[in-house]
Amino acid sequence: MKTSTFIVIAGCEGSGKTTQISNLKKKYPEAVFFREPGGTEFAEEMRRLMLVSPDSAELSPFQQMNLAFAGRADNIRKIIAPAMKAGKLVFADRFDCCSFAYQIFGMEGRNLFSHFDSSRLSMGSSTKHPYLPDLYIFLDISPEEGMRRVAIRAKAKRDVNHFDERGPEFHARVRDGYKRFAELHPSRVKVVDGHPSKEEVWKSIETVLDGFLATR
Ligand code: TYD
Repeated sequence: MKTSTFIVIAGCEGSGKTTQISNLKKKYPEAVFFREPGGTEFAEEMRRLMLVSPDSAELSPFQQMNLAFAGRADNIRKIIAPAMKAGKLVFADRFDCCSFAYQIFGMEGRNLFSHFDSSRLSMGSSTKHPYLPDLYIFLDISPEEGMRRVAIRAKAKRDVNHFDERGPEFHARVRDGYKRFAELHPSRVKVVDGHPSKEEVWKSIETVLDGFLATR
């Protein structure tokens, strides 16, 4: 088995991603994990600009996308490339697919398709390797159920950002963005239904991962 494998876990708000990532950390204690936006110190600074700075909610899709890719390039150079060279399994909590789903679809930056493609292909320029993910797992959830879960999280005052607070139409568009990304990259994307219980969703994720890693 080739161990250096780069896997992305992504999904809409309230898709249960955080719970499933903690399961992954238990199953793969040797793997490298990082989140986006964020990751390296530089990328965490990009995250602050994207999510919590006073201007963050007013930024255009172009600005948000560029901040995300600036952080992503740093993550490739400092986290992904060294881990892949060391033969490790790497998990990203969100990655480039989220710029596609949130900025092009959710925020309706429909003029950014080619900017996205060229950013994606050049994000690894410092390593002379794009380090594109080998597998994406999308946790799919309807906007209604996702929003219901986010509201519970908001009551507990946990981790709410300006994207969580956008309306159901925004989240429906994000979901369409993930669907489109999956259509464009059918061999790399697996969509897992996020509606069943946490335990059932975890079983589905394990089935996808065990099957995929057996082919490496
Ligand atoms: P976060 O608090 O990390 O949420 P979650 O626990 O749901 O992952 O918030 C990340 C937010 O940033 C989320 O709303 C999606 C958004 N985002 C983008 O808009 N573009 C991107 O490229 C990425 C990676 C995330």
